[in-house]
Amino acid sequence: MKVNDRSKREKWSGHIGFVLAASASAVGLGNLWRFPACAAGHGGGVFIFIYVLLTAFVGVPLLMTEIAFGRATRLSPSRSFRRISRYWWFAGALAMLIPAIIVPYYCVVGGWVTKYFVASLCAGATDVNFSVWIKDSWSVGWYTLAFGVIVFASILMGVKAGIERANRIMMPALLLLTVGIAIYVIFSPNSAEGLKYYLLPDFSRIFTGSVAGNAVALGKVCMSAMGQMFFSLSIAMGIMITYGSYVRREDSISKASATIAVCDTAVALLAGIIIIPSAYAFGGAELAQKGGFGLMFESLPKVFAAMPCGSVIGAAFFLLVLFAALTSEISIFETVTSSLSDFTHWSRRVCALVVFGWTMLVAIPSVISLNALAGSDFLANIILMPICALLTCVFIGFVARPKLIMNEMRERRPAVRRAYAIFIRYVAPVFITVVFLAGILEHYGLIKV
Ligand code: PHE
Repeated sequence: MKVNDRSKREKWSGHIGFVLAASASAVGLGNLWRFPACAAGHGGGVFIFIYVLLTAFVGVPLLMTEIAFGRATRLSPSRSFRRISRYWWFAGALAMLIPAIIVPYYCVVGGWVTKYFVASLCAGATDVNFSVWIKDSWSVGWYTLAFGVIVFASILMGVKAGIERANRIMMPALLLLTVGIAIYVIFSPNSAEGLKYYLLPDFSRIFTGSVAGNAVALGKVCMSAMGQMFFSLSIAMGIMITYGSYVRREDSISKASATIAVCDTAVALLAGIIIIPSAYAFGGAELAQKGGFGLMFESLPKVFAAMPCGSVIGAAFFLLVLFAALTSEISIFETVTSSLSDFTHWSRRVCALVVFGWTMLVAIPSVISLNALAGSDFLANIILMPICALLTCVFIGFVARPKLIMNEMRERRPAVRRAYAIFIRYVAPVFITVVFLAGILEHYGLIKV
């Protein structure tokens, strides 16, 4: 395929293929190790309720925007912005830079997950002491390489034969595993308290007493929910623009976006049902709120080992985490490959090889040091992602014009078109600015969200 021939651009085989791939991108470590802890730490049901509202009214329209923009231009981020206005090349460059920063360190985390899956199949994940193992850079490096090679192989095979096929196997398996383990946890003894802790709205856990204090507390829950939503839906990473560029003209973008959001939220909710009651029964509220890789690699193996049939549940759980990490890494690897290919007009294979080389090289600091990994995460997710999201809104709102998106979605109702224009020009930028400021203030310890 000539990469600059946009009409011949590879396409998903159909609606399901695309929805599966985009959901597979959205469902990742964010659902498994961030969402449950955020909910536990922010009043359980209070957080869940706000999160669902924000996803429906802010997340879904932004998702539609990126997918429609990708399909309208039939290009990945490196050239899609420039195609509409040549002065906006920098927005495209940023939307290419963000995934290029994420690919290497996400690959390292994928390597950790691979290690834990292999360990849970052999001797048991409790035998791995995370803080000791992580210092063995050779071992971490080999697992990172193994994870990277699986992703690279899927990308090499192409959109339909590689990415789509990989997702067609891994996504249904992931959903089945999530539902299966959640049912197991619900029916295990001692889970009732933790389930209540997770699902019931409990204002007493967030409210301080004074009216002003309560308002601030509620604001913090909203900020946390919003940050989580952006990350979880893979918005502002260039991914949805790229995946959108492979969507067939006849497929419905609004239906697809709603399905992706429902799927992503359902997995996040179920992950909480798996993790929170188990962690709560084992280590109380403190463990339930822990989150991050401390929860995933230090506490959860012990929690599962203490359960009846713990080794089977542990292995099933790490297989689920591995699938979630693989499909997200595939989507972000594809975004960089496709951007490079659109930009340079090199073949897909050559671009994939270059991205693989980049990934392995840039992953080295993150293999060696956790601080390097955290630094890349901060740069990509806290600093650059909100800037990219803001630029995208301004670009669509005032340069490309909201009608580009509405026409692409074949939306004719004037009221909807007007509401969308207001949303993308004014409402979304306000939300994004809040996430941006909250992220920076929290990073520097000035507030605790
Ligand atoms: N949505 C993903 C998640 O929740 C975020 C992500 C996607 C990160 C792709 C990296 C690559 O984990």
